[in-house]
Amino acid sequence: MNILLVAAETSPYAKVGGLADMASALPKAWSQAGHDVRVILPLYGTIDKERYSVQKLDMLVAVPFGSWTEYAEVWHGKLPDSSVDVYFLRSSDYFDRPGIYGYHEGFEDNDRRFIFLSKASFEVAKALNFKPDVVHAHDYHTAVCMPLLKVTYQHDPFFAHTAGVFTIHNMAFQGHFDPLRAMEFCGFEPSDFYTGCWYEHDGCFNAMKAGIMFADKVTTVSPTYAQEIRWTPEGKGMQGALQQRSADVLGILNGIDTREWDPATDKQIALTYSADALQRKLANKLALLREVGFHDNDQNDDVPLVGMVTRLTEQKGLSILQHAIPQHLRDGSMRLVVLGSGEHQAESFLHDVEHQFPHLVRFIRGYNEPLSHRIQAGCDFYLMPSLFEPCGLTQMFALRYGTVPIVRGIGGLADTIEEYDPITFSGTGVQFYAYHAEELSTAIWRGLRLFKQEPHWTHVRSNAMNVDYSIVHTAEHYLEAFAWALEKVR
Ligand code: ADP
Ligand code: GLC
Repeated sequence: MNILLVAAETSPYAKVGGLADMASALPKAWSQAGHDVRVILPLYGTIDKERYSVQKLDMLVAVPFGSWTEYAEVWHGKLPDSSVDVYFLRSSDYFDRPGIYGYHEGFEDNDRRFIFLSKASFEVAKALNFKPDVVHAHDYHTAVCMPLLKVTYQHDPFFAHTAGVFTIHNMAFQGHFDPLRAMEFCGFEPSDFYTGCWYEHDGCFNAMKAGIMFADKVTTVSPTYAQEIRWTPEGKGMQGALQQRSADVLGILNGIDTREWDPATDKQIALTYSADALQRKLANKLALLREVGFHDNDQNDDVPLVGMVTRLTEQKGLSILQHAIPQHLRDGSMRLVVLGSGEHQAESFLHDVEHQFPHLVRFIRGYNEPLSHRIQAGCDFYLMPSLFEPCGLTQMFALRYGTVPIVRGIGGLADTIEEYDPITFSGTGVQFYAYHAEELSTAIWRGLRLFKQEPHWTHVRSNAMNVDYSIVHTAEHYLEAFAWALEKVR
């Protein structure tokens, strides 16, 4: 199958969150299964061209835009450790600036930047003579690939049998654009925009809705989130659109690159280990305590160590965390290590608790991939009290590293973590449901109790390490979805 994947993020070049991991791991898995996959990504100013051998091609694509034409240089690289071709669009007007989305509200011209990316993807495919069976777009940024395919490009014999698949990673960001601008940039008739049309929501051009309505198949990143966005306020206004497309909406659980995230071979951790040699994990805990700067006296391994690696936003449950954590620190029953950055209020809370409990808390502000591996390897527990979570990848990394997840049982967290049952010895972590600090606090307490109780502590950790959330299975499910989408255009 020929697959054209278009996304605003792809690891390792440009990453804010899990979208980048998925837009890199899926192409690699499809390519290994024998498919021809091409990835399109903007050449953001922050991409390190030398490090990743990204080189300029002798190719300039013309992109019809409104009533005029714009141009983009095409650069090329291979996804590391794979034969997947990545084509980077260079445009000084749109992408040659630091950052992917811009701070807070985003760059003012994000409508124009991402419509340009979406349109240019078709033009690049054509210039390469790469006839995609499937165009796979991700999140609101490239959602307009779906109407572009159906309204414009399907009339070109080159794309006549191309199917469109749209994947929702996060419903919280929908791309509310000014209708006049968006219709013009897309090259659609202004009169095709009216109340109730497939582009419109609350008077705006809504890129997410357009993606949902025009795609041959719509997928999201876990089965539970697929239900939540259809039937609960998690749909953030898109419930109606999703219900109209119900027969074509699928939840496909994300997966992880089990070669990159493997405690038995991970070169970034202090000592490699596996499920049958769990005592070796302890060396990683001691090394982590040292690395993040706990004093010698505080480097003992008998206090449970809880970790988080995350964007610090409301989505990740910071508001209940702030109320639940202090009591556990006051009685000295746990240590906390958090790596991340984000909202000012969350960062200052973490700085404050670190200041208040210097022998128990470390907040490492920033983005640090090697350290994220060492936190997964060195902690006893991984905390994810999310307000909403389409899927989440870090709890799956934690499972693989035998680090017991304590999660809110919603979205992908409900699909990946099973409550440990001390009667049957089954289960992989601890879950709570209501979004309340007391519920989170009780869940932490249940987890901490397990830490002291054998044989449960050994069982829960080895159960966790034995579950298989490899990207290979996820990639297979997408191929099935692509085959169903293709039935619609053949
Ligand atoms: P989301 O996409 O909502 O941020 P996911 O769990 O799906 O959540 O993916 C987050 C990804 O970003 C994971 O690969 C995680 O390890 C990584 N990550 C998040 N914050 C940091 C950080 N501060 N340093 C290193 N990696 C991080
Ligand atoms: C989004 C979601 C996260 C998901 C990731 C990759 O950023 O917040 O839950 O794992 O996309 O699909």
